[in-house]
Amino acid sequence: PVELRVADLLSRMTLEEKAGQLTQYFHLGIEVPEGLDIDALPAEQRAYAEQPKVVSDAVRAGLTGSVLFVKEPSTANRMQRLAVEESRLGVPLLFGFDVIHGLRTIFPVPLALAATWSIDTIEAAQATAAREARSVGIHWSFAPMVDIARDPRWGRIIEGSGEDPVLGAAVAAAQVRGFQGNFGPSNILAGPKHFAGYGAARGGRDYDDAEISDSELWNVYLPPFRAAIEAGAVNVMSAYMDYNGVPASGNRRLLTDVLRNELGFDGFVVSDNNAVRSLETQHFAKDLTDAGVRALKAGVDMEMCMFNPAFSRLAQAVLDGLLEEKVIDEAVRRVLTVKFKLGLFEQPYVDEDAATEVLISTESRELAREAAEKSIVLLKNDGGALPLTTASLSSVAVIGQLGDSKRDTLGPWVFDHDTDETVTILEGLRSRIGDRVTVDYAPGAGIPPRVFPSMFDQMDASVVATPENYDDAAEVQQAVQLAARSDLAIVVVGQRQNQIGENASTSTLDLPGDQQEQLRQIVETGTPVVLVVMSGRPLDLRWADANVPAIVQTWYPGTRGGDAVASVLLGDTSPAGRLPFTWPRHVGQVPIVYSHYRTFAPGDQGARYWEEPSTPLYPFGYGLSYATFEYTNLRMDRTAVPVGESVTVFADVTNTSAVDADDVVQLYIHQRYGTSSRPVRELKAFERITIAAGQTRTVRFTLAPQDLRYWSAVTDGYVQDATTIDVWVGGSSSADLTTQFEVTDSDTGSDRGTA
Ligand code: IFM
Repeated sequence: PVELRVADLLSRMTLEEKAGQLTQYFHLGIEVPEGLDIDALPAEQRAYAEQPKVVSDAVRAGLTGSVLFVKEPSTANRMQRLAVEESRLGVPLLFGFDVIHGLRTIFPVPLALAATWSIDTIEAAQATAAREARSVGIHWSFAPMVDIARDPRWGRIIEGSGEDPVLGAAVAAAQVRGFQGNFGPSNILAGPKHFAGYGAARGGRDYDDAEISDSELWNVYLPPFRAAIEAGAVNVMSAYMDYNGVPASGNRRLLTDVLRNELGFDGFVVSDNNAVRSLETQHFAKDLTDAGVRALKAGVDMEMCMFNPAFSRLAQAVLDGLLEEKVIDEAVRRVLTVKFKLGLFEQPYVDEDAATEVLISTESRELAREAAEKSIVLLKNDGGALPLTTASLSSVAVIGQLGDSKRDTLGPWVFDHDTDETVTILEGLRSRIGDRVTVDYAPGAGIPPRVFPSMFDQMDASVVATPENYDDAAEVQQAVQLAARSDLAIVVVGQRQNQIGENASTSTLDLPGDQQEQLRQIVETGTPVVLVVMSGRPLDLRWADANVPAIVQTWYPGTRGGDAVASVLLGDTSPAGRLPFTWPRHVGQVPIVYSHYRTFAPGDQGARYWEEPSTPLYPFGYGLSYATFEYTNLRMDRTAVPVGESVTVFADVTNTSAVDADDVVQLYIHQRYGTSSRPVRELKAFERITIAAGQTRTVRFTLAPQDLRYWSAVTDGYVQDATTIDVWVGGSSSADLTTQFEVTDSDTGSDRGTA
């Protein structure tokens, strides 16, 4: 049994080797040019140049248990040989990587995957990513990111599932299942992150502190983690930011009381990169030793870092009486258990010849296309502007730098992609209609680069930036002229992929550069316009919404993104993506969520700023279709439901159009009174279904007691109230088909337990 093997190995380890198992180094992959005098370099450059050797030496000495960012099978095997054949105990390395939305096959960004509301698709996408990653020697992904994000200024909104805990929980669990499967040879470990509350960064500024009430923590931020853990996630990553005044990676309440004791997590916790060292930077720890000791005691089992790990001081800390050895042992036990579970001791190496075949799979690319099609959200479609009919078109203009940028089409967090293979929107349209219609292109308005360059840009030669000497006025003029002489203009606007993601927060939701002004001039030509938005956050589309008949949100759609966009625009498939967040009118409304509370003046709900409606531009769960759906017959199996029992809700959905299409059926509730007041609406269940033209389908949702309970500050625990519950079923959070049921006191009274 694994426990015995772990115990045996542990009993043979020195204190230093134990601390080594708790250390994870970045593989920087730096090639030091021959003949370069490293000693002559400035200190920081020297540290980088020496780092690969520091890591190799540590592996050989059994002083590191894991390495991240190795993506070549030959490199993985070379390093693994150092661990297995040259270190004293031969404990294999665990290789981790940010496999966020694919490795070679790039799927739409995670926020877009959430917008599919298709749990099977999400699971299949991450199973594909796992297969590819494992084929090159990666054992573990630092994903899914399950942080709830309610502030689109925060760049990492793109990596999660948006604002809602129920959608977030379902998507989190699907991703864990996809990655981990049954821990087979094509699976990798999942690491939901960043525990916990990282998405609540003050002002949306990355890494800023988060102040989260207990009620929000339990009702909003924790459900996706709970779901990921219940789905079997064996790793969790701790966050950087201060959580209520204590950095998350040194926060025992979060990492031990909540994560282990309340959520029942029994895997291992890795820190975010350099987050342990950062305890000193954040003026929490006195020095690096204090940082290491406090992180470990709080519940971090493994330190991710580039240089000089704090955990390399743990052995001395034990000798100095600052730490008990049994705390280290417990963490090592968790790490070794996972290594045994993955079969690393039996098969530490990767087959260097097998990867190619896995990485070129056409089925994987098709799945990426399907996922992208499912993620696209039709925001506006006045007068049936879409789908396009080629019979009436002889020339189409595609305008916008993002319309033909392979790198931007992929989105952030991709490292092993094949840029050449990526299909842009222009290419997708040309291959779909180019034989009948002339498809011309103008890049148009430049997209100004970020003021502070992204840390990943230096690692990625394919990153696109508008050149400094770009003649914006001339390019806009050419774009407008092209639009004027075409039958239709498809204008692609948005943000570049490096304007969103880690350390890519923004203070504005405006379209960067002159994209807005260019759009206005194109609309003025009188040529019909379809607006295609490429972004990972809601942008300010007030003008477009008022002036452009058709708007399509494509996110960063991945390797086959251009094909997917063309399919949707041409009506090969009806769009059924739904927004996983509330789309604000402008940045001043942020944060805005559909599940807000009822106020003292409920009648003012739509007019709470005097100069701008306070309703969103598009509600959560919203998205149009080429079909039309009618919801009827909302009913339940009973209308009085004792506390602690379930109720089943039914509704009929009819496709009243001539187009077969998917719809995302959503169920929301509102609790009218109780121990605490509750949001005006809360998503509780959803299902993406296909309904043939003219057909009716009955959907059925069960609301279990855990769907009706919530965490209350009054009882300091979960509570389910006897109360009246309103129910809505429909195609968005604005659904109006409604009914009610009563929750009655059960024989044993209200459930006020904490389970
Ligand atoms: O996994 C990431 C994390 O989400 C943010 N900081 C760096 C880590 C490793 O790349």
